[in-house]
Amino acid sequence: MSALANRLKSLPQLAVIKALGKVLTLPRPMVLFGEHAAIRLCDSIADQGFRRVLVISDEVLAGLGTLDPLVAALEARDVVVSLYTGVRPDPTFEVVEDGLAACRRARADALLVIGGGSAIDAGKVIALAASTGKSPQALVGVLKGRQPALPLFVVPSTSGTGSEASVAAVISDSVSHVKSLVVDPALVPLAAALDPLITRGMPASVTAETGIDALTHALEGWMSTFANAQTDGYNRAAVRLILENLETACREPGNLKARDAMALGSHYAGLCLSTTAIGYVHAIAHQLGARYGVPHGRANALVLPHVLAFNKPSCEKRLALLARDIGLAPAGSRDAEAAETLCRRVDTLLANLPLKRSGAQVQRADYDRITEDALTEAHGMYPLPRYMDERDVHRVLDAIRAVA
Ligand SMILES: NC(=O)c1ccc[n+]([C@@H]2O[C@H](COP(=O)([O-])OP(=O)(O)OC[C@H]3O[C@@H](n4cnc5c(N)ncnc54)[C@H](O)[C@@H]3O)[C@@H](O)[C@H]2O)c1
Ligand SMILES: [Fe+2]
Repeated sequence: MSALANRLKSLPQLAVIKALGKVLTLPRPMVLFGEHAAIRLCDSIADQGFRRVLVISDEVLAGLGTLDPLVAALEARDVVVSLYTGVRPDPTFEVVEDGLAACRRARADALLVIGGGSAIDAGKVIALAASTGKSPQALVGVLKGRQPALPLFVVPSTSGTGSEASVAAVISDSVSHVKSLVVDPALVPLAAALDPLITRGMPASVTAETGIDALTHALEGWMSTFANAQTDGYNRAAVRLILENLETACREPGNLKARDAMALGSHYAGLCLSTTAIGYVHAIAHQLGARYGVPHGRANALVLPHVLAFNKPSCEKRLALLARDIGLAPAGSRDAEAAETLCRRVDTLLANLPLKRSGAQVQRADYDRITEDALTEAHGMYPLPRYMDERDVHRVLDAIRAVA
């Protein structure tokens, strides 16, 4: 189907989503920020009267000892703590079911997630399934919960997904690897702690990959046709914070200023996700994750430069404005030059980061399925500034494969 036909087909559904966005109230988490914010969050959980807390995390963080001070802080306040550390990257419905069983066994009155987007997304769906009695699969789609979730608190251990602020959770099918979206305002946690003492444990490669995920959210949000003055403010700040701090955070893992900046950048971009959604970078990257197991942020890094180049003719003014606003291009510079400066800055950042950038795993034989799934995901769901047809996606895949 031509790009124009794809656009025309998408418009009615996008109009419904936009109208829904105007009537729905999008909640936000209370945010505690800075060193020891995670401990303060534990105190706050106890102060609010919760007495049986299930901590949801993964074996990596449990092994690193990241959970220990937080569990100790809760127990010091007479909170009974149970642990579920079975989350794996790109959590499946089985992971959510296991966590839900742990939640029921613990008779938890609140959940505390300590982890990256995978643990947070699993925790969100566990919280909603626990309160509604619905199966995790029954929650897939938009507004399927119809009730508040079990009180949910989160400590993000990566600075990337912004999931602590969004109304969405992504759960994968263990056989097909297809990612399903649960979208519900009830998924938004009550509170989040952005604490650099938690994120400083991230290895450089995870810092880089998750940081590029956050940058992609901010850039796709900036280019979204649903962007507004408020999302622009957050996404502008996010792009600046990430461009100025991601390389430092990778080089100097213990640099708490850079960790703080990355957490804020990721959070600001996350605050906009529910309004601006995402775009083709994510739609294509999700397929690379599903088929080849490429981690989410790394997949975004493979796709981002090519979708930026594709969007540029439709977004030149907007990209130029962003480049000038964040001081990359001088005031008064021509749009074409300013937009190009921003795209080149993204290329330089990607080249400077400890990222695996080879796209050799992408198979030509998979092109048609990847393309079909990416276009199905994007069209009618994402407010895209420029529409692709099948050949455009193939060109992006060719460009990804060309990086050895
Ligand atoms: N809900 C949303 O709005 C949203 C948005 C974007 C992405 N996502 C989803 O989030 C998931 C990706 O999350 P992610 O990128 O944060 O990665 P992740 O949670 O999958 O974690 C990646 C790896 O890093 C490790 N790790 C995490 N924090 C660490 C730390 N501080 N120290 C050492 N190791 C650490 C984890 O154990 C894991 O092995 C995907 O499933 C993606 O689909 C959700
Ligand atoms: Fe993402």
